[in-house]
Amino acid sequence: MFEIFKETDKGRTGQLSLNHGIVTTPVYMPVATRGAIRVAPLNELKQLGYSLILNNTYHLVLRPGLEVLEKIGGTHRFMGWDKNVLTDSGGFQIYSLKHSMKIRNNGLEFRSPIDGTKFFFTPEFVARAQNIIGSDIAMQLDVCLGYPASESEAKKAMDVTLRWGERFLSVEPLQGQKRFGIVQGGFSKRLRRESAALTASLPFDGFAIGGLSVGEPEELMYELTYEVLDALPKQAPKYMMGVGDPVQIVELASMGIDMFDCVQPTRHARHGWVYSWQDGPQVIVRGKYKFDFRPLEYQPQYTYGYLHHLFKAGEPLGLFVATVENLSYMADLTRKLRAAIEGGSVDSLKEEIRYQWRKRII
Ligand code: GUN
Repeated sequence: MFEIFKETDKGRTGQLSLNHGIVTTPVYMPVATRGAIRVAPLNELKQLGYSLILNNTYHLVLRPGLEVLEKIGGTHRFMGWDKNVLTDSGGFQIYSLKHSMKIRNNGLEFRSPIDGTKFFFTPEFVARAQNIIGSDIAMQLDVCLGYPASESEAKKAMDVTLRWGERFLSVEPLQGQKRFGIVQGGFSKRLRRESAALTASLPFDGFAIGGLSVGEPEELMYELTYEVLDALPKQAPKYMMGVGDPVQIVELASMGIDMFDCVQPTRHARHGWVYSWQDGPQVIVRGKYKFDFRPLEYQPQYTYGYLHHLFKAGEPLGLFVATVENLSYMADLTRKLRAAIEGGSVDSLKEEIRYQWRKRII
């Protein structure tokens, strides 16, 4: 299912063979939480070369509901997307409901923010829901803490996540569906290592690192990732959840992470932050772009000045153009990353990306 092409001390390249085709890694996965990438139709993504996107089980269960997805035959038909879909379990989103959420031994109880209906997500239910959704990669239900979290909270969350992993796996998967466990363990190296080793003892197809990039210092995220990667099997795919910052993607891929997802590139686009190789992220509403008639890097039929105008005028096309530009950049970033790993030039790519992103104030 996962074939490694080249393994180096600065990351690896490979490919995932999934039910809806092949995905080359390291990969960035755009986030279509509720079955849509905000603003951009999925055929645009296909043209950019994306072959794996995210859906969220929690959001799809709330709306449109599993009855709809079952009747139409799954999320691929529903969205009109014939490439791969990874479904996150929803643990992360439910956890953010805080007030209306309770962790019980059996699962997560919460009320729908849409209409107040009571839901109870067990690990088994989440597995069955992802079968109905028809995902190519399904994620276990987990308990995710924010930063900071005490060692005892982290230990509890990690133990529950582990038990839920076993129960998740007790449900028969869809044919060809891959299932990933999620490593938790808060901000303790010891617990992270323990969580990784115990999760790795379960028959998952791949492993995700959850509960990071939630407000902790960047260095701590790297240190904890190092511990986790060291305790996970080398040949399995590794997925860092919720990281989409280009600097962090390159850094983490050079440590051995294969998969990333984050709403950041598409969210940035809607806020008028346009990614570019030449000048780093551009805040398009700034006055300096009014007379800037340089072409966009990926959509040269448009200029920065035109995009500035679209944002100023509140034209929805601006959101679309910025989204496509940022997703083009992200697709290119992973292509460059794969080439750099293959060609032994990861350090110079790191330097280039760091310069673009860290030397400038967004
Ligand atoms: N997305 C980002 N972080 C997490 C996490 O810890 N768990 C899950 N399920 N999804 C995430």
